[in-house]
Amino acid sequence: EARERFVASVRGAASVTTTPRRRGEPAPVPPLEEPFRNAADADPSVAIIREKATAAMASRPDLTPTSAQASSLEEVDDVVALAQAAAEVWGQVSAPQRAAVLADVADRLEARRWEILSVMAHEAGKTAGEGDPEVTEAIDFARYYARSALALADVDATFTPVPVTLVTPPWNFPVAICAGGLLAALAAGSAVILKPSPSATRCGEVVADVIREALAAAGHDPETLQVLRVPEDEVGKHLITHDGVDQVILTGAMETARLFADWRAERPGGPAVYAETSGKNAIIVTPSADIDLAVADVVRSAFGHAGQKCSAASLVILVGSMATSRRFRNQLLDAVSSLRVGVPQDLGTGMGPVIEAPSGKLERALTTLEPGERWAIAPQQLPAPAGSEQWQGHLWRPGVRSGVRPGSWFHLTECFGPVLGVMTAATLTEAIDIQNQVAFGLTGGLQSLDAQEIAQWLEEVEVGNAYINRHITGAIVQRQSFGGWKASVMGPGAKAGGPGYVAQLGTWSEDAERW
Ligand code: SER
Repeated sequence: EARERFVASVRGAASVTTTPRRRGEPAPVPPLEEPFRNAADADPSVAIIREKATAAMASRPDLTPTSAQASSLEEVDDVVALAQAAAEVWGQVSAPQRAAVLADVADRLEARRWEILSVMAHEAGKTAGEGDPEVTEAIDFARYYARSALALADVDATFTPVPVTLVTPPWNFPVAICAGGLLAALAAGSAVILKPSPSATRCGEVVADVIREALAAAGHDPETLQVLRVPEDEVGKHLITHDGVDQVILTGAMETARLFADWRAERPGGPAVYAETSGKNAIIVTPSADIDLAVADVVRSAFGHAGQKCSAASLVILVGSMATSRRFRNQLLDAVSSLRVGVPQDLGTGMGPVIEAPSGKLERALTTLEPGERWAIAPQQLPAPAGSEQWQGHLWRPGVRSGVRPGSWFHLTECFGPVLGVMTAATLTEAIDIQNQVAFGLTGGLQSLDAQEIAQWLEEVEVGNAYINRHITGAIVQRQSFGGWKASVMGPGAKAGGPGYVAQLGTWSEDAERW
């Protein structure tokens, strides 16, 4: 509970205007404390956490990469050969021993939480409020995949590890998704090569350090995990398509996934690419919705990490009378315009920077309207404060564009930034149709208190992760595994953080039972 209050306190303005309920509705449970009182001042344990977070954010970590950068095909060959040699040993290590390494990784991540938060803030622009749950997710992955390894142990005779897995994580979850891929592959008995994201190299390297420490502490070869930076040219292609790489776990844009898959396809009978890719996600709000909840969930889903999540809400679709609800409109616009935009080092920041100065699709989304659209709130670039020049050009007040039309560019295109589009539909059926028209099928939300509407939506919506009356980012390991549908997924696609994810990363004899 203390942690939740801490996270809430660093998110900045709560930003949702509360309003009286309709007559006859039960009064909400009163909060234990006055709103707007700073919980950190009242609770010593929260104050300690806040102090640690402040210190972590203020300390400037050395962001110089420590891993090798391959500049020739031969250097790639050398690293793959090291991984192959390590795989021969790691593939023989028993599942309980592999699980023990993962459990140790969890403890080491916890011990280095503040350092990791600092690296994420300085390198990848993550606020404490976004980075802290991400470290927790990485820890959850370690503990969950340790248990997955133990589950494999019961059927060891039929599960055979795949020697070498390449993991290419994204910059937007540079710790959790990186750790998730590496740990799942290690749990499955593979040696791993990490190709860190060029925009979050140190984040990946810190995760790798932790894992290598845990391997060494248990007497295993830390070379079981290799880290290799590659340029995105022939050298990078050589790694992705290498004969010694047996499978690839990729999280990134659909374009990247397609490129990787095309490269790999040039190798006949080539190995599996497990990819979780882009999304263009919408939350439907029906007239039966709880407006306070809907607004809070839409804002959190759209602007957490400045909208740079594959799971983020990029569209809200208002059904029937909700489309003309003044209360919804006022509360939404009030909440968005009161988001405090700033640098991640400032604990009061509600929404941090975008990873790079907007270009391409994001620049278009922030600056150009389509026919029929209007800015309900126009995005606006803000100057970076003195001492934070790193983020110059990266701080944007979030925007809300209304009048987005079905089939338009903004309706169908992932833009990955702090812009929310508002669409309207006469009926829930029409809203679901709009939601399903996008090529992707990653996350989706419904805000409704009507059981029939909920049942219809669950039946018809085409997304991998469906959320009812909840924000649509921040899947929780084991409780709700995460994966896509339609163009958001490539490969066999068991969901991360769920049953079957580790099991898919090895080979099974024909009569094996899978779960
Ligand atoms: N797992 C993340 C989320 O649920 C996205 O990758 O937001």
